[in-house]
Order: sequence, then structure tokens, then C-alpha cells
Amino acid sequence: MAATDDDDLDFEFDREDMPDRHGPADLGPPSLIVDDLHVSYRVFGAKRGGAVTGGKPSLFNRLRWRLQGNVGATSEVKAVRGVTFVAHHGEAIGIVGTNGSGKSSLLRAAAGLIPPNKGAVYVDNEPSLLGVNAVLMRQLTGERNIMIGGLALGLSVKEVRERFDEIVDFADIGDFVYLPMKTYSSGMAARLRFAISSVATPDILMIDEALATGDADFKQRSKARIEEIREHAGTIFLVSHSLETVRRMCTRVLWLDKGKLVADGEPEEVTEAYRQHVRAEREKRQKKGRPEG
Ligand SMILES: Nc1ncnc2c1ncn2[C@@H]1O[C@H](COP(=O)(O)OP(=O)(O)OP(=O)(O)O)[C@@H](O)[C@H]1O
Ligand SMILES: [Mg+2]
Repeated sequence: MAATDDDDLDFEFDREDMPDRHGPADLGPPSLIVDDLHVSYRVFGAKRGGAVTGGKPSLFNRLRWRLQGNVGATSEVKAVRGVTFVAHHGEAIGIVGTNGSGKSSLLRAAAGLIPPNKGAVYVDNEPSLLGVNAVLMRQLTGERNIMIGGLALGLSVKEVRERFDEIVDFADIGDFVYLPMKTYSSGMAARLRFAISSVATPDILMIDEALATGDADFKQRSKARIEEIREHAGTIFLVSHSLETVRRMCTRVLWLDKGKLVADGEPEEVTEAYRQHVRAEREKRQKKGRPEG
């Protein structure tokens, strides 16, 4: 931007004219710090001592492993490889990346559900980090699961009962709430999981692909709920393959690739860069699949 000596420059502006962005200036204090986090899994049946970094092995490699007598051996899958970021109160952070890039592993480790191999996670408050998915049981009714999920989030039995109708309304599942969750469509199950997870206005809410199957009306309601949590100074993490959902709901986006953080910034910019990367990779694959001549 070039400075000029024009007198007629108008430096006055109205607050309403400013873009509705939640830039660093309006960020609250840190709510979660992830410092050089590494997560690996030990898996059986792969090459001993070999390290895998995400992605599906080809049929040829799988056959080669078997022929080399590697059945029964173990190897290490490096799911998250040195991720560092600071999340703030009031942020809604989207996490994007291709299948196997480490998004769920990052969330699970940040939520304390799996131990990191290296690095650390610091949380500001008693983490009411959500592991509702981990405690819900498909063979039980929605009603029982609401109780289990509510208790897991730290509500009392009385509080869960008080909010029961609100949860059922939000999930919009009607009398299905009295049937086992395994009878639900994936959209219904996802709506109920989200309704339970967000009922306690948690400090940190982590949503892994739960919004993808909802219809337009549910998406609108979940967006409102996410905004409510942000207004109460909560932090939301949203893993989604729908870039549109991420752009609509998030104030910041992390892009993971093969366990590493490749971008961290504005939703528009990061999702656009990711989209172009995915398209370039797809074109590369198509070219390989259809050699000329
Ligand atoms: N429980 C597990 N045991 C062994 N390997 C695992 C386990 N969970 C994930 N992995 C591996 O870790 C890597 C990262 O997986 P992760 O589920 O975190 O990816 P993701 O980005 O969430 O993928 P998706 O978009 O498909 O949900 C992958 O290579 C995956 O195969
Ligand atoms: Mg995942």
C-alpha cells in the first residue's frame, strides 16, 4: 500500500462498515495448546519396524508384505507428525485433509482419549472435551444414550432429565428416541450425537464428521448452536470433508496432510488452497491411469 500526501483521504469509518471477521484482535485467551504433537499406532500384520505415513497400500505392496512372511509382525503408523497450534476461546476451528491425514487422531489426542507419543496438549480449563461418540452405544435407545452422554459431559441426572426434551427437539428424531440407536438412519444418529454433545455448552466441543449427513435445516440449527458456544467463549473443532460447511461455520481452518499441519489460517484461503491441491492430485492420478500413446 503506497502512502500519499493527499489531503482528501477519508480515514473515518463506521463500525458497521467493517467486515464481520473475527480476526486476532477479537480472540480470547488460549483455550488449548497443542505443542509438537506426535501420535503413532502399532499395527499387526505389517512390515516389522517399517513406518507408514497414511494412505492405503497398493494391492501389490500388500501381496509383497504377505509373501515376505510379514504376517504377525508389527509396524508403526505415524498418524500425527509434529503438529503445533494454539486455539482460543471463541474460535471455531475447521480441520480439513484427505482420508488418513490424521484429523481424527489429532482430535482424539487433543481430547485426551489417546496418549501422544511425543509432545504435549495443554488445556485451560477442566476439559469438558467431548468424547460422547466414544460412550454412546448403538444397541441402547436414544433415551438411554442421552443419559449416558449427558453424564459423560458432566451433567447430573436431574440436569439431563431437564434438558431431555430440548435434546430430542434439537435432534428432531421424535419417537425414535425410544428405539435403539442402531435403527437410526446415519443422519438421525449424527443429529442426536451433535444434540447430546453440544447440550452442556462445553468449553471445547470437538465434532468429527457429525454434521455431514444433516439436512439443510439441521445445518442451520447446528450453526446457531456453534455460534452460541462461541459466544459463551467456547472453542469448537469441526472435522469435515464438506468445505462449504467448514467455510460457513468456522473462523479458522487447519489443513493436515500426512500428519503434518500444512496451513493454518482464514477459512476462505485455506479451503481454497486445499481444494486446488486435491484437484491437482486427482489430475495427477488420472494422468497416471491413462498414459498417452
Ligand atoms: N486405531 C488405529 N490403529 C491403527 N492405525 C490407525 C488407527 N486409527 C487411525 N489409524 C491410521 O492413522 C492414520 C490417520 O488416521 P485418521 O483416522 O486420524 O485420519 P483422518 O484424517 O481422520 O481420516 P478420515 O478423513 O478418513 O476420517 C491413517 O493412516 C490410519 O490408517
Ligand atoms: Mg477421521
